[in-house]
Amino acid sequence: MKKGFIFDLDGVITDTAKFHYLAWEKTAAELGIEIDLVFNEQLKGISRMDSLERILVHGGKATEYTLTEKEKLATEKNQMYVELLQDLSAEDLLPGVASFLKKAQAKNIPCAIASASKNAPFILEKLGVSGYFKGIVDPESLTKGKPDPEIFIKAAEILGIQPQEAVGFEDAQAGIIGIKDAGMYAVGIVTTEALPGVDETVSRLDELNIDELLTK
Ligand code: BG6
Ligand code: MG
Repeated sequence: MKKGFIFDLDGVITDTAKFHYLAWEKTAAELGIEIDLVFNEQLKGISRMDSLERILVHGGKATEYTLTEKEKLATEKNQMYVELLQDLSAEDLLPGVASFLKKAQAKNIPCAIASASKNAPFILEKLGVSGYFKGIVDPESLTKGKPDPEIFIKAAEILGIQPQEAVGFEDAQAGIIGIKDAGMYAVGIVTTEALPGVDETVSRLDELNIDELLTK
């Protein structure tokens, strides 16, 4: 029996990937690096600094910047990103999310957020859904990011359950690997590309029957 739900944020609760992309596209362009939406897929679920590293490798400039310069670039990207989030509201919840969270709450199933984003608390506030979550894993507390299972194991600890008692919801390959390596049941939220390794795929959360999911 499953006892708790662990959600990724970007691409599962709301679609912020487009804003990450806009901000990274500008930052990369300033460095003379071009990125496109296909490349952007590789940045999903990956931390801010790791995303910058991947962009620099992509542009053949992996060794051109000092750590201080890279930190400055990441901060500038985040300022642009946060600026783009200012108008975020409950209308930006992905379809089916609100009803799914309400049903889980009515059934007393504890929920947590396992997102690489340091902006997660701010985003959940803007979306008006903070109250549905027992906790948010602090990405600063991690020794390794996704695809490592650490973030999902910490989320299970927050919920007070064993990893095997959790269902993880993810839209990115790095997250699915982490969920499976943590020993959890993985639900993939798929819009276009299939996610290898998932236990089950849906295009929106309200396609799921919670009672059935708990028996997995
Ligand atoms: C993840 C996104 O949720 O958060 C990544 O999928 C992003 O694209 C990462 O890089 C870190 O986000 P932030 O908000 O801390 O820069
Ligand atoms: Mg995601």
